[in-house]
Amino acid sequence: MANEKPEVRISLGTWDRLRDDASSVRYDVFVVEQNVPPEVEMDDDDAVSVHAVAYAADGTPLGTGRLLPDGHIGRMAVHKRARGMGVGGLLLDALIGQGHGDGHRMLVLHAQTHAKGFYEAHGFRVEGDEFMEAGIAHVVMTRVLG
Ligand SMILES: CC(C)(COP(=O)(O)OP(=O)(O)OC[C@H]1O[C@@H](n2cnc3c(N)ncnc32)[C@H](O)[C@@H]1OP(=O)(O)O)[C@@H](O)C(=O)NCCC(=O)NCCS
Repeated sequence: MANEKPEVRISLGTWDRLRDDASSVRYDVFVVEQNVPPEVEMDDDDAVSVHAVAYAADGTPLGTGRLLPDGHIGRMAVHKRARGMGVGGLLLDALIGQGHGDGHRMLVLHAQTHAKGFYEAHGFRVEGDEFMEAGIAHVVMTRVLG
């Protein structure tokens, strides 16, 4: 899929429905690529979150993210081979839309510092100083919903 923009479908749903596809992407990105311990990567919030999964035309899961009931977006991950093609942006837009529909006035996330620019491009602003989480530098970012 080198330089071509892939045809991507975003599915929003419960952990029960999207667990297999979401967790396989998260395992490859966070556990294998970023060395996050698997017991830290999986948590109780999955069961109560709305999940978004991006699929290629052939049904391959390309990326994922989740929205907690309190308005936190997290676990944003796109397979290395599918990055830089807008998949993460589509996932984030879908989760922002879900948050808006749920009546949230503000969305919050803990961004890995290197990904700050990605979130800024989607209307999030940095709040406060850098901190460590799962051994990776993060910043809190927020976006007010109109
Ligand atoms: C961060 C991530 C989800 C972005 O997904 P993506 O599909 O590559 O994002 P998009 O293609 O929609 O957008 C990429 C844009 O964000 C910008 N960007 C800034 N920092 C970036 C970063 N660390 N990684 C990727 N893109 C970044 C790119 O320059 C690009 O801008 P452009 O479109 O103007 O060229 C993906 O890189 C990823 O999964 N990274 C590893 C896991 C991770 O760090 N997750 C974030 C946890 S907070």
